[in-house]
Amino acid sequence: MNTPTDHVGPPLWLLAELTYRCPLQCPYCSNPLDFAHHDQELSTEQWLDVLSQGRAMGAAQLGFSGGEPLVRQDLPELIAGARELGYYSNLITSGLGLTEAKVQDFARAGLDHIQVSFQASDPELNNAVAGSRKAFDQKLAMARAVKDAGYPMVLNFVVHRHNIHQMADILALCENLGADYVELATCQYYGWAFANREGLMPSRAQLVTAEATVNRFRNQLAERDHPMKVIFVTPDYYEERPKACMNGWGSLFLTVAPDGTALPCHSARLLPIDFPNVTASPLEDIWYRSPGFNHYRGDSWMPEPCRSCDEKDKDFGGCRCQAYLLTGNADNADPVCSKSAHHDRILAARTAADHATAGLEDLIYRNADNSNVFCRG
Ligand code: FES
Repeated sequence: MNTPTDHVGPPLWLLAELTYRCPLQCPYCSNPLDFAHHDQELSTEQWLDVLSQGRAMGAAQLGFSGGEPLVRQDLPELIAGARELGYYSNLITSGLGLTEAKVQDFARAGLDHIQVSFQASDPELNNAVAGSRKAFDQKLAMARAVKDAGYPMVLNFVVHRHNIHQMADILALCENLGADYVELATCQYYGWAFANREGLMPSRAQLVTAEATVNRFRNQLAERDHPMKVIFVTPDYYEERPKACMNGWGSLFLTVAPDGTALPCHSARLLPIDFPNVTASPLEDIWYRSPGFNHYRGDSWMPEPCRSCDEKDKDFGGCRCQAYLLTGNADNADPVCSKSAHHDRILAARTAADHATAGLEDLIYRNADNSNVFCRG
C-alpha cells in the first residue's frame, strides 16, 4: 500500500489563476460558483515569488489563466518573470482585451504559447453563450494576430448540447483561420457547468454524431497532408472508467487561485478541505507537507471498490471533485466508474440528457450577480 509520502515528485505544472475577473459569462466556467466572494488577488510581487518558488521546486510548465488573465495589467511583467526563471509559459485567454500590440509585447516578454477559446462557429451563438456582443469578431482578429506574431494558432472550443451540432462548421472555421491545433473539449461538469449540467450535457446520439464528424474531418486532413491537429475530448459522463484526474492528486499539478489559495486542481476549492495559502506558507511546505495536498495521495484513503481494484494505479480512483459533487463525499469512487455504488447518478444524467429541452435562456450565466445568489445559498 502506498503512503502519502512515498514517491512524491515536484509539481511540474503550475497553473496561475491570476484573477476571477472576466468580461465573459460562460455558463460552463470552471471558476467556483462563489467567485464573487473571493475578490482578493495576489500582488505582482507575490505572484513573482510564487513563480520563483515553483521553479526552484522543479516546475517547468506554467499556465496563466483566470477568469481572464488579460485583465491583470501586470501580465507582461509576470510573463517576463516567468521567462527569466526558465518556464515554458502558456496564456489561456478568451482573446477579449487582447490587441495586436499586446501580442507583440507578450512575445517580446518571452511568452511561449497562446490558446484562444471560442464558444461557437458563428457570431450569434458565440456571443449569446459568452454574454458579449463583440466577442466573436474580437476572437477571430486575435486568433489571426497570434499566428501573425509567430505563435502556433491553438484554438479551444468547449462543446455542449447547444453547439455540438456545429462540429463541421467549427472545424471548417478552424481550417479557414489557419489553426495549428484545435481542442474540442466536451464540457466537464464542475463549477458553473455542474450547476447547468442539465442544460449543457449532450445526448449520446449528439456525441456519436459529433465524434463521427470529427473522425471524417481528420481523415480528410490526412488525405490532404494537412498539418492541423484536432483533439476531441469526450465527457467523463459517457465513460465507464474514470480518468486519472490531474494524473493523481498532488502528483504533477499545482494550481494557485487568485487569492493565493494553493489547490491540487482548479476545482478543489469546493471540497470540505482546508487548503493552504501561499501568503502564509512556503510552496514547498504546501506541496510536500500540507494536510490538504496529502489528503488523497497514495491509496490508503481509498474505500472499496477502489482499494482492491487492479486499475487503481491507472486511474487513482478517478476524480475527487466529481465524487464530491455527485455523492457528497469526496472519498467515494468516482461515480463515472461502472463499479461505483453511485454509478446510477451518471446513468440518470445520461437519461436526462436524452430528454432535455432547456434552451440557452434557461442557463445560469457566470456573473457576479448570479455568484452572489449562490453565495447567499
Ligand atoms: Fe479536482 Fe478532479 S477536478 S480532483
